[in-house]
Amino acid sequence: MSSSPSVRYQFFDLGPDASDMYQEVLGGLQALPKRLPPKYFYDEEGSRLFEAITRLPEYYLTRTEMNLFDRCEQSVAEALGNDACVVEYGSGSSQKIRKVLQRARPEAYVPVDISAEHLELQSAALSRDFPWLKVYPTCADFTQPFKLPEPVSELPKVGFFPGSSIGNFEPDSAVGFLRNVLRTLGPGGQMLVGVDRKKDPAVLEAAYNDAQGITARFNLNLLHHINAQLGVSFDPNSFVHEARYNEALGCIQMFLRSRETQTVVLGEYEISFTEGETIHTESSYKYDPAEFIALARRGGFDTEVWWTDENSWFALYLLRAAP
Ligand code: AVJ
Repeated sequence: MSSSPSVRYQFFDLGPDASDMYQEVLGGLQALPKRLPPKYFYDEEGSRLFEAITRLPEYYLTRTEMNLFDRCEQSVAEALGNDACVVEYGSGSSQKIRKVLQRARPEAYVPVDISAEHLELQSAALSRDFPWLKVYPTCADFTQPFKLPEPVSELPKVGFFPGSSIGNFEPDSAVGFLRNVLRTLGPGGQMLVGVDRKKDPAVLEAAYNDAQGITARFNLNLLHHINAQLGVSFDPNSFVHEARYNEALGCIQMFLRSRETQTVVLGEYEISFTEGETIHTESSYKYDPAEFIALARRGGFDTEVWWTDENSWFALYLLRAAP
């Protein structure tokens, strides 16, 4: 594919194929305890449900982070300059970058997301609203190394990873992820990362067990997505949502618990569940600032500056590739 640097909008599809997904799902369901990767929450419906989660009264993360962007806008505008390319890992609805773009004027924006349809829609709307910005949506699984679109190769890069999505990685994998990011961003690369903090477990557990049951639907939608994509025979009604804080690990863990003994067919395989058996679907690690700064350091980044809210519930970190 050829592309000139003057193209203002271009979609790049590096999305994972169904056979990758099949292998991963099969591997996860054959493991003990059973597990499924959280990235498969995000089909079109899952992306919509996650948007609904971000507006829940119990889910303080998005709201708190949005307010923090106001606090750091000066530093972020300086970090971005006017020739940078912002690479957002898991761009979802691209709402947060809009807040940044009201203050800073980077040259280009590369939203990276696994949900192609959602990505295309949100990016096209963003491109209309910010006509001065080059927008190159890239459909990719950002948990794996991938190549940035060719038109941004010469621009200085700033990674953008808000929402505490880094908490979905096990800590050692988060370090591995940051090292990959470092390679993608190149020397001098910077990164703005939003990270949820440790706090009263009751506050944390409420955020993942909302009264309206949206998080439960989000969790169960994983089974709908897998059924639709891989032709599996999951009955989502035979599983229940569960989320609890694991104090020893410092993370919220989400599960789908089987209500009954059952067997699910996946291609030529049969997967059996005992009554009460769980599938681990997500971990959301929470980091104290000292812990996160040390983790970033292991990933090759120094923390230039960080911000938090008045409750000390959430933190934003501006990182720079260590020399
Ligand atoms: C988007 C991964 C940051 O872990 O808080 C929300 C996803 N899961 N409610 C999080 C999620 C359940 C969210 N992240």
